Amino acid sequence: MKKKVGFIGWRGLVGSVLLERMIFKNDLSKINIKFFTTSQVGHNGPKINNKKFGILENAYDLHKLIELDIILTCQGSTYTEKVYFNLRKLGWKGFWIDASSCLRTNKNSIIVLDPVNYNFIIESINNGCKTFSGGNCTVSLMLMALGGLFSENLIKKIFVSTYQAASGAGSNYIKKLLLEMGILHNSVEKEINKNNFSILKIENVVSSLLKSKKFLRRFNDVPLAGNLIPWIDNDNGDGNSKEEIKGEFETNKILNLKFLDKVIIDSICVRVSTFRCHSQSFLIELKKNIFIKEVKEILCNHNKWIKLIDNTKSDTIANLTPSMVSGTLKILLGRIKKSNFGNKYITAFSIGDQLLWGASEPLRRILNILIKL
Ligand code: HSE
Repeated sequence: MKKKVGFIGWRGLVGSVLLERMIFKNDLSKINIKFFTTSQVGHNGPKINNKKFGILENAYDLHKLIELDIILTCQGSTYTEKVYFNLRKLGWKGFWIDASSCLRTNKNSIIVLDPVNYNFIIESINNGCKTFSGGNCTVSLMLMALGGLFSENLIKKIFVSTYQAASGAGSNYIKKLLLEMGILHNSVEKEINKNNFSILKIENVVSSLLKSKKFLRRFNDVPLAGNLIPWIDNDNGDGNSKEEIKGEFETNKILNLKFLDKVIIDSICVRVSTFRCHSQSFLIELKKNIFIKEVKEILCNHNKWIKLIDNTKSDTIANLTPSMVSGTLKILLGRIKKSNFGNKYITAFSIGDQLLWGASEPLRRILNILIKL
């Protein structure tokens, strides 16, 4: 019998990337899927490869949800908060798979990233775990990149600086970035096309525009084009952003590391004006001094998605960029070298698609594990 799966939030950015991957991997043929909505109950569901998927069901109707074996939601934390606990109170024993951060800290949930914590996932399922969250995008991408060093228990501490793409803040942010880019370009178009253009004049015009009240009012937000924003998500009140505190907590939860074995992770998370894919610069303290050649072997043997980039100028600038990885499952990893901090310290730089390994792919893969049970 095919499992009954309800999909909520399939039209948002993460949900639509997930649905696209599920269609590509032929996952829909393995399940009996129903599409739900929070706003368009009774409208037609999607038509995929000429097949109609019925009428959209109400995502708040607990009596409909209770009939499902698996709920897959990319609708966000507010939805999960409203529905998950009430459904469990009604005695629903199905599997809940969630892209949001709402249940990541819940003791009954595990954070899934099977190339990294497959054994823990299986052990948890065998122990009755029914609730699965996808990890924070930068955390999952970091673990995919550095998984070899984690699995060999070689990491003591990491400091990471992130360079997170506009799409991490939602689809409207891509639109905002493009509009800003257009306005900036228009403001200097005549000057830039002159043979004897004045770069100081151009710089002055765009910089003044970025600071102007008119520009701030137009987007009701800090500009991202020609800029960066070194704060992501809410203020945790202790000098860290919410995005930054997720790093250490989620990493240790995914790896199921207990108090004494915990890896220390600290970070500064930054929004940059790339469109898609999150980049991260790591300073890693290893537990022992290892040759760089061995570090590279350990890293690239961990999973088949890692693509090592030689630490040379030509390879790095040609291959280690967000645009080279966008829309793929590759995890680019380069700039691996010993640090001047000491012989146990190394640096690395990695880039991955935050909508794939950073969000949708771990969910698609846990769904595939669960439907085989
Ligand atoms: N928290 C992430 C961000 C979302 O703000 O970029 C995942 O892409």
